[in-house]
Amino acid sequence: MTHSKQLGFWAGEFGRAYTERNAACNFDPKRLARMGEIFKEMLSHASGVRRILEVGCNTGHNLSILRDLGDFELVGVEPQDAAREEGMRRGVAETILPGDAFHLPFEDGSFDLVLTTGVMMHISPDDILRAMAEFRRVSRKCYFTMDYFEETETAVANYHGHDDLLWRRDMRKVVARSDPGATLLWEQCVGQDRDIGKQTWAFLFAFGGKAAGISGC
Ligand SMILES: C[S@@+](CC[C@H](N)C(=O)[O-])C[C@H]1O[C@@H](n2cnc3c(N)ncnc32)[C@H](O)[C@@H]1O
Repeated sequence: MTHSKQLGFWAGEFGRAYTERNAACNFDPKRLARMGEIFKEMLSHASGVRRILEVGCNTGHNLSILRDLGDFELVGVEPQDAAREEGMRRGVAETILPGDAFHLPFEDGSFDLVLTTGVMMHISPDDILRAMAEFRRVSRKCYFTMDYFEETETAVANYHGHDDLLWRRDMRKVVARSDPGATLLWEQCVGQDRDIGKQTWAFLFAFGGKAAGISGC
């Protein structure tokens, strides 16, 4: 199995500590409501979506929001055992499987939409196209991502003591490199870190050649 340094951190003690720190606030009603607004808006640009895969779903809080937004078949993939177990305990999805962005345990074209939030920013420039290729393989139509934004890819120093665990970038450029035929269906600035003035952007894409004849994706 091909691994990455960053994935090793998330699957290990670093990811377990992250999960413990965030387990309660992940399900904070205000946070769920805000994410619900973003997902609702995004889904209004993505017709015909029924099967959704969230990669890096952690405790399944996003899946719990999607469950309340429509009649979706929801599946999660999460490399951190403690997070996955918490998500399963809460019953937020059909299943949450062990796995990662580089190895998704599904047949080609199994989902209408692959979704990541706060995951791609933890994947290194060397590995990101491998993850995109895997998303394109399992998604029949669409890809949604939400991450810290920067026009020029920039490594963020000292993320919980590490210099190579977080990048700001423009995911439109990554998707265009991975799939020149992809279409941007919707984009929105969804957050601004007041302390450092940095933004979080959400993007919805239709993969190239996959959305022909379908409105939205
Ligand atoms: C910052 S957390 C974000 C969690 C959740 N998506 C959210 O928005 O609250 C990053 C999550 O991605 C997972 N992750 C990190 N690298 C991954 C990879 N290569 N493939 C799949 N999941 C990954 C981590 O285990 C963790 O659950």
